[in-house]
Order: sequence, then C-alpha cells, then structure tokens
Amino acid sequence: MKKLALVTGSKGGIGSAISSQLVKEGYRVIATYSTGNHQSALDWFNDKEFSQDQVRLFELDVTNTEQCAERLIQLMQEEGTLDVVVNNAGITRDSMFKKMSASAWKEVIDTNLNSVFNVTQPLFDAMCEKGNGRIINISSVNGLKGQFGQANYSAAKAGMIGFSKALAAEGARSGVTVNVVAPGYTGTPMVEQMKPEVLESIKAQIPMKRLATPEEVAQSVSFLISDAGAYITGETLSVNGGLYMH
Ligand code: CAA
Repeated sequence: MKKLALVTGSKGGIGSAISSQLVKEGYRVIATYSTGNHQSALDWFNDKEFSQDQVRLFELDVTNTEQCAERLIQLMQEEGTLDVVVNNAGITRDSMFKKMSASAWKEVIDTNLNSVFNVTQPLFDAMCEKGNGRIINISSVNGLKGQFGQANYSAAKAGMIGFSKALAAEGARSGVTVNVVAPGYTGTPMVEQMKPEVLESIKAQIPMKRLATPEEVAQSVSFLISDAGAYITGETLSVNGGLYMH
C-alpha cells in the first residue's frame, strides 16, 4: 500500500515540486486545487504525466471551514488516514500597510493561515490514532523577518510558525510531528510577478545571490517527512540562501 500525502496548492510553483518529489518517493498524492480551477489542475496533471494511482486531483476551497471538514472526512473514508499533510496553499496581496484594503488583509489571512486550521483539523485526530504522521507547513522567510509591503502575508506566515509549535506539542505523544519549511525567494510565478526592480534589489540582498529552486524547497520537505526526520518536531527549517539567519 502506498503512503498517502495531501498537498494543498499543489499546482503552484512550490506545491508542484513537492507533489513531484512525493510521487518520486512512492507516495500517493492528494493534490488539492481551488474551486473553479479544474481545467488548469488537469492540464498540470497531464503535463507532469502523473498516473491516477500516483496523484488524485481534489477540489478543495481551503478557506471554507465547513467544506474542508466535509470533504476531508469523505476523503479519509475513501483513501484512508493521511501519512503526510503539506499546507502549502498561499497567495500574496502586497501593498504598503497604509494602502492595504481590508479584503487584501482578509484574503491572505484566510488563504494562508485559516486554511491551515481548516485542512489540518479534520485530519489530525486520525493521524494521532494511527500513531504516526507528518505535518509540514510552508511558511516564508518573510514570516520570520517581516517584509515591507507584506503586513498581511508576514502575519499569516508567522502565524503558521506559532501554530506548528503548539500542534507539535499536542502531536508528539502520538508520533505526529509538525514542522515548518520557510522558503526564501523562490523561482515561482508568485515571485516572478513582483516588479523586476524590486526583485532585483531583493536578490542583491541574498548572500547566495540567487533564488531558491522549487526543488530545493521540496527536498527539505522530503527530509522532514523521512525517517531521518522522526525526532524533529516544532522546528522551522529555513531554505533562504542566507537572506535571514536566526
Ligand atoms: N524598505 C524601505 N522602504 C522601501 C522598501 C523597503 N524594503 N521597499 C520600498 N520602499 C519605499 C520606496 O523606496 C518608496 O519610497 P519613496 O516613496 O520615497 O520613493 C516607497 O517605499 C514606495 O515603494 P514602491 O514604489 O515600491 O510602492 P508601490 O506602492 O508601488 O509598491 C509594494 C509597494 C507592492 C509593496 C512593493 O514595494 C513591493 O513589491 N515590495 C516587495 C514585497 C515583497 O517582497 N513581496 C514578496 C512576494 S513573493 C513572496 O511573498 C514569496 C515569499 O514567501 C518570499
């Protein structure tokens, strides 16, 4: 029987690399995509040449608490208890705080932070009952250091870290580890949509003078869910080329 992993935001830059990495390691991946995006999810699935056995596309509005509870409980009835959950779905709505709309605040908190509650809560008890599991929350360097123009995003990403430490304390006795991967600026559509001059000035501040690749982020997820990561919990692993050392 294949081990079962759920990845939210699976067709995004980092989510796609994580999904591919998990497939390579023999997992069956439940790849969630947001409401109305079935065609682009299918295109992604076909581009990657996944089989139905390797990846199941799963529509899920991670901002909807009731829908997540209902659909994820149904999923467990069909597929079994999850071995790995990767909370990766995330968006940006960057603007200076004085210009930030309430909706730009709320959308980011809902998608990047409330989603972590919505997705993890229906799955967590079963993982504890099974006696092992791995939860990985994809945060950001900007949740650690704060970033100009990202009060919403930095708040959500920092929130994921506090959440992970608290849940790590609760999951430890049942063999469920909860960790954070905090990527720096990574070569993904999210980063590519930044103003080129802003991105260039950030790149210049990165000691390694380059972006991370999505695969480098995926490989740190891979480490934390492997047997080698069994005794690591409540930890935040930075993958940021030295942009922020803490
Ligand atoms: N520190 C201090 N001042 C800054 C600054 C910084 N880091 N960045 C910009 N400023 C200043 C500018 O010099 C400018 O000053 P003046 O008015 O005196 O000229 C002022 O702030 C306004 O800056 P902009 O012209 O850039 O303002 P804007 O409204 O056009 O854009 C912004 C605002 C969208 C926030 C833009 O600054 C920006 O894109 N910043 C980067 C945000 C960022 O890093 N996003 C990451 C997205 S990717 C991601 O989030 C993935 C991940 O996890 C890393």
